[in-house]
Amino acid sequence: MKLTIIGTGYVGLITGACFAEFGYETVCVDKDINRIIELNQSKCPFYEPGIEELLNKHLNKTKLLSFSNSLSQSAESADIIFITVGTPSKRLEDDADLSFVWDVAREISNNIKKYCLIVTKSTVPVGTTKQVKQLILEKIDENNFDVVSNPEFLREGSAINDFMRPDRVVIGCENQKSENIMRELYRPLNLNETPIISTSIESSEIIKYASNSFLATKISFINQVANLCEQVGANIQDVAKGMGIDKRIGSKFLHAGPGYGGSCFPKDVKAFINTANKHNVDLSILSAVNNFNDQRVSEITNKIIAKSNLSKGDTAAILGLSFKPNTDDIRDSTSIKIGKILNEKGINVKSYDPVAMDNAKKENPFLTLCKNAYEACEDVKTIIIATEWNEFRALDLKKIVNNKNNLCIFDLRNIYKSEEIKELGFDYFGTGK
Ligand SMILES: NC(=O)c1ccc[n+]([C@@H]2O[C@H](COP(=O)([O-])OP(=O)(O)OC[C@H]3O[C@@H](n4cnc5c(N)ncnc54)[C@H](O)[C@@H]3O)[C@@H](O)[C@H]2O)c1
Repeated sequence: MKLTIIGTGYVGLITGACFAEFGYETVCVDKDINRIIELNQSKCPFYEPGIEELLNKHLNKTKLLSFSNSLSQSAESADIIFITVGTPSKRLEDDADLSFVWDVAREISNNIKKYCLIVTKSTVPVGTTKQVKQLILEKIDENNFDVVSNPEFLREGSAINDFMRPDRVVIGCENQKSENIMRELYRPLNLNETPIISTSIESSEIIKYASNSFLATKISFINQVANLCEQVGANIQDVAKGMGIDKRIGSKFLHAGPGYGGSCFPKDVKAFINTANKHNVDLSILSAVNNFNDQRVSEITNKIIAKSNLSKGDTAAILGLSFKPNTDDIRDSTSIKIGKILNEKGINVKSYDPVAMDNAKKENPFLTLCKNAYEACEDVKTIIIATEWNEFRALDLKKIVNNKNNLCIFDLRNIYKSEEIKELGFDYFGTGK
């Protein structure tokens, strides 16, 4: 089977490399020529554990993987074309910006020469895949293609494993022929007995948004309960443990923190609310989730400023800039949002992140970047552990406290035990405890 993947971002590149690992001849296409040049040298444009090894293997050894900035050649012979371009929020609205998807659909319609499947793997609002079909029908006969929705659930930081061993694969098809091709494509996953869920195109599109929105809801819920815990002397970690052990609830996504960020949850929750509004359906539960999360960062930053008595000219350290560990993705990162608010108030921000500093500095020149966590924490009034990278879990805090009085530490991800930190002489503040 010959595959073409359009868009070599976090989803497209992982998809392409993993399908090559399954043994398929795969061409990844991106309009960003610099990205293609780098990829052709086996250099990954972003940090993701394990990806460079896979690139190297399939680009140089098996030769199953190739990269191009032109769709025309690969589209002619492809059996399946995946659309994996970005679907960010529109600039001034909460709706998903589908302009990249429409551009790609037009390009596909100019280039396919034989029957193929056109698959939306990007996260797209319900109805989009069928609109892609309508666009392609303007140029291509309906017997020469089918459209499929096949949303992606991988997580940055563990993307390869998530792709190779997913909890489920969802395929939304219009007919048996396209379903059979998709089932054949994912046959290598039968070895792990991965459930392949076959639905209508509309259900498949909604499964993706409903899944992300549900996880975001769990996060906002536990963060609100964390606020209550702080008021009444309870400990959110104990509460989450007591709740999560109940199989109906589950322990995942019950970690209190500074709110959800990243390239998916914020925009997907907003787009899902927007879809519900368009269809006059009450999804107000999600509006509450979204509004609370939007306020969370300023609420937490104000707490940091008040508790550590930060004022203009003071310096704070932020440890961790990516929106979560094991990625250099800073899109909608809560750490950076906290840094921006501090900077607006005249507070200097020193920071360190194991891999996201280059990305962070490009868009946030106010950050003073340091070569490690210890340098970031030197001569500051307060330390904010914002992303739970493993290397922040075992810091030699004695080295940092260095007999200073009233050094505050805000452990936003609750990775330390308050008693231990207080014993060292810090003023310790966790989340929800
Ligand atoms: N990042 C994640 O963890 C994740 C997980 C699951 C689903 N998704 C969804 O997958 C989609 C892609 O996300 P991403 O994070 O990989 O995006 P990204 O922004 O990292 O990458 C998108 C890529 O598409 C390329 N592109 C745009 N228009 C193009 C065109 N006309 N032709 C060729 N290439 C083009 C861009 O140059 C870019 O390299 C989104 O809908 C996202 O919501 C993302």
